[in-house]
Amino acid sequence: MGNLIDGRSIAEKVYVDLRREIADLKSKGVTPGLAVVLVGDNPASRTYVRSKDKMSRELGLHSVKLELPASTTQSELLARVEELNCDPKVHGILVQSPPPKQIDEGAIVRALDPRKDVDGFHPLNVAKLAMGDPTGFVPCTPLGVQRLLIESKIDIAGAHVVVLGRSMIVGKPVALLLMQKAKGGDATVTVAHSRSKNLEEITRSADILIAAIGRAHFVKADHVRDGAVIIDVGINRMDDKTNERGYRLVGDVAFDEVAPKAKAITPVPGGVGPMTIAMLMSNTVKAARMFSSA
Ligand code: GUN
Repeated sequence: MGNLIDGRSIAEKVYVDLRREIADLKSKGVTPGLAVVLVGDNPASRTYVRSKDKMSRELGLHSVKLELPASTTQSELLARVEELNCDPKVHGILVQSPPPKQIDEGAIVRALDPRKDVDGFHPLNVAKLAMGDPTGFVPCTPLGVQRLLIESKIDIAGAHVVVLGRSMIVGKPVALLLMQKAKGGDATVTVAHSRSKNLEEITRSADILIAAIGRAHFVKADHVRDGAVIIDVGINRMDDKTNERGYRLVGDVAFDEVAPKAKAITPVPGGVGPMTIAMLMSNTVKAARMFSSA
């Protein structure tokens, strides 16, 4: 289909540049290192952590994968984070979300060394994004969305971007990123969510609609105007008996009815997902470069 935004091929382009940067860092004696921490056995989280670890190995990074039991206490996890904060071979740390319920996620995020917070979740990095300070880390999915738009030559400056969803992982940071007075920014941003009135009216006024509401096939043809650009951040499991796993992954957008109206649209899977991992690798390389001033 002509209007499909292929996240896998755009991620490949990112990796070409990253491999060059990694080689350069290695020639200066620095191997970027990433630690991914999984607490418990949430199946989706396990898959994500495995993909992140696999990609960092493929790129030749120093990769640490910590898998901790679901019974891990807050203080045990804090102690592991502190070890990673102090490990000079580790430049980036990611604790996969969501953790089990005995863990206070906010406290874990605040315990990270902000210079190693490649997820961009630490309050210092959230503030730097809001302030437009480029020394901070921007969360990976928003960065991936921005890069998809740029590489697909979609005008962001002056466009009306409607973000559906207000999470700290996607909705809020992607709104901040695209409204920044900077390259890849300058959009007019509206943030809508499950409690917004006249939701259809708002989403129909979007030049670029970013769906990050976490509900399968929530965005229908009636939500979208002809010629809009649709970025689908959702990854939802839908029961599917015809699939050997018993489910299939679908986005927040009812793709089959929305795609014919769209100027460009991301599929699920194969759209935003591959870009999120590519941006994690990119943030890790940035952390290594800043840490070593290389
Ligand atoms: N869970 C879903 N997305 C993310 C992410 O980008 N980072 C982390 N740490 N957990 C997540």
